[in-house]
Amino acid sequence: MAKTAVNRLTVKTEGNTPYDICLKNSFSSLAQELDGIGCGGRRLCIVSDSNVADLYLKEVMEYAKKCGKEVISFVFPAGEQSKTLATVQQLYETLIQAGFDRKDYLLALGGGVVGDLAGYAAATYLRGIRFVQIPTSLLAQIDSSVGGKTGVDFDQYKNMVGAFHQPSLVYINVPVLKTLPDDQLASGVGELLKYGLSFDADFYEWCIEHMEEIDERDSETMTCLIAKCCALKKYIVEKDPTEKGDRALLNFGHTIGHAIEKLKDFTLSHGACVALGTVAAAYISWQRGYLDEDEFYEIRDMNVGFGLPISFDGISVDDIIEATRSDKKMDAGQIRFILLKKLGKAQIVTDVTETEMREAIKSLKAD
Ligand SMILES: NC(=O)c1ccc[n+]([C@@H]2O[C@H](COP(=O)([O-])OP(=O)(O)OC[C@H]3O[C@@H](n4cnc5c(N)ncnc54)[C@H](O)[C@@H]3O)[C@@H](O)[C@H]2O)c1
Ligand SMILES: [Zn+2]
Repeated sequence: MAKTAVNRLTVKTEGNTPYDICLKNSFSSLAQELDGIGCGGRRLCIVSDSNVADLYLKEVMEYAKKCGKEVISFVFPAGEQSKTLATVQQLYETLIQAGFDRKDYLLALGGGVVGDLAGYAAATYLRGIRFVQIPTSLLAQIDSSVGGKTGVDFDQYKNMVGAFHQPSLVYINVPVLKTLPDDQLASGVGELLKYGLSFDADFYEWCIEHMEEIDERDSETMTCLIAKCCALKKYIVEKDPTEKGDRALLNFGHTIGHAIEKLKDFTLSHGACVALGTVAAAYISWQRGYLDEDEFYEIRDMNVGFGLPISFDGISVDDIIEATRSDKKMDAGQIRFILLKKLGKAQIVTDVTETEMREAIKSLKAD
């Protein structure tokens, strides 16, 4: 992989205004970037969660004020439990009270929860206003802030209510990762490994070679890997913006991952659940002869190196099977599963049997 990362990418999807992803070392060029997309003289609402607001809201507010005519904030309690229509409703109320009109902007400052929720509010308020992603978690910087999937959970169903709504800008300040808790860094790595395993075996190996630098959040390493993931995501969403085809490959590890996440009541991080789902999917790939035994065990054991789980307890195989059925990744009653045909090549399949799934889930059970 190139040592110096590209620090600006433009995402072009049909029917949408192209937008830039820019990688920065601080928030200091935020006002200039916001100005560049037309925020000058507009009302801006910074949407954030309680953790991220404590750390970065004041600074981001100061830069935003250099551009917007009025800058307000909306902060909600951190965590997946807040990713609901009730929080969106409170945000609508804040926007109405402040007189936000169709030309005003939301700025999503935070992890994937903030980005998904603010994006959904932006998609629906006044039938759609513009928004900017300022992702602060590794997961959001490499994945959720790009591609325009927005939404909230409903009755414990993940991302059940949502819309495609592209951001106008993705502003990534890489060094904010320094304050990210270790378990949340690991969660981001869960999604990171997904990119390599599904699309690029060399990148997967690169991530393993740079395990220590990733653990230390070394700026140069993080910038390289974020740029690489954003480039992969750009390529995929440009080809398939509304997930009619290959974009679904990004759901590698998510079928069983989402089921565990839900049954564990969101007490395990999203990336940790994806990492477990990845091992299960790799297990089926191995059993089918797509991967050899060494490859399967390497995939599994890499989780340990990155602080991710390889087993769980407290939930039954039956409950997981049942939960995968109610997940959205169904195709005419058939579960759409993503398997690895080989390292670096994921493929959608619809013929995974219940027995295969049961065996894979059993291999993860610690009780
Ligand atoms: N839209 C998409 O394409 C897409 C893709 C993947 C995941 N997602 C969604 O993203 C969500 C998960 O995102 P997440 O893992 O970022 O969770 P999150 O937003 O809950 O953030 C994780 C935790 O880290 C804290 N945090 C974030 N940045 C920080 C920083 N720089 N310093 C200190 N603390 C920080 C947050 O306050 C939170 O407590 C899930 O809801 C998932 O469904 C969406
Ligand atoms: Zn995910």
